[in-house]
Amino acid sequence: MRKGILTIAAVGLLASGGLTACSDDSGTGSADSKKTPKIGVILPDSKSSPRWETADRRFLEEAFKAAGVQSDIQNAQNDKAAFQTIADQMITSGVTALMIVNLDSGTGKAVLDKAKSQGVATIDYDRLTLGGSAQYYVSFDNETVGKLQGEGLAKCLTDKGAKNPVVAYLNGSPTDNNATLFKAGYDSVLKPKFDSKEYVKGPDDAVPGWDGPTAATIFEQQLTATKGKIDGVLAANDTLGNAAISILKKNKINGKVPVTGQDASVEGLQNILAGDQCMTVYKAVREEAKAAADLAIALAKGEKKDTGQTVKDPEGGRDVPSVLLTPKAIYKDNVKDVIADGYVTKEQICADAYAKLCAGAGIS
Ligand code: BGC
Repeated sequence: MRKGILTIAAVGLLASGGLTACSDDSGTGSADSKKTPKIGVILPDSKSSPRWETADRRFLEEAFKAAGVQSDIQNAQNDKAAFQTIADQMITSGVTALMIVNLDSGTGKAVLDKAKSQGVATIDYDRLTLGGSAQYYVSFDNETVGKLQGEGLAKCLTDKGAKNPVVAYLNGSPTDNNATLFKAGYDSVLKPKFDSKEYVKGPDDAVPGWDGPTAATIFEQQLTATKGKIDGVLAANDTLGNAAISILKKNKINGKVPVTGQDASVEGLQNILAGDQCMTVYKAVREEAKAAADLAIALAKGEKKDTGQTVKDPEGGRDVPSVLLTPKAIYKDNVKDVIADGYVTKEQICADAYAKLCAGAGIS
């Protein structure tokens, strides 16, 4: 990886060396001028979470626009073949940096390796590609995300006065390294409670592709298998949480069984206001997009930024230079913070029947 950066920088210097010497007055003789940044971004899908199209695309566009750089943001719609085709097209079209949210590490790695071999700078955005070759990884502290979910569920179970509650897991996609990190986080809080018999471990299932309808089917099976005895649901994001809530509603026990989430989606925040969801985890995607855009632009110019932090890729054994931002737990009383941060609007959250609930939660 380091070699890749040096190579790009060296080529830039060599190519512009002559120019710099004889055209000092042009103002264009720097090593940077050879590469006009153009950043390609591949988002994973638009169903596993609304964040990709409603937050990431918006904030990435905002960051590229503010920096005055060209960009091409596309969505692979959960299709691995399409993901590779988009990457090939972007490389052919001359992007100087490629930012990906992989659909799994295998296909992500193929894309990163190809980009690298063509001298295109690479960034793992939000999801680390295991065994991959990205020059940077930009995300949140995902184990902390899971820890906040575990603590949130424990708090809501306590608030409901639950005794020896049975806790079911709806984990994220088995092909997403983030899902592994989230689980490590909530296990760090909940496993000691299972071990001490304060809580009872219920069904524990992963949801392929973070798919909502699949999660609803899985949760219905979990309820049947436990004869309806599930007292709390650790759902890894708002999409999975809403799937569980839809089944709880069908069984008329919504609101009685706390459910967690992640992403502070409009639906998730409304479920919290309605009392059907216990909490969500807000990740300030504007900051994530800005950090990734800054790095992509620097890489495109042949610069190497020090992020001051690395993450160990457990498969490749590499220390990947990283930016890890801090997530925040959201309960009914601080839904307003997500609105104040410009992530969602009051109009979206407080529409129709939610207007009254918003007033009750201090959203004015
Ligand atoms: C992201 C979550 C998202 C999930 C499903 C994860 O990798 O970190 O924010 O909810 O994918 O798209």
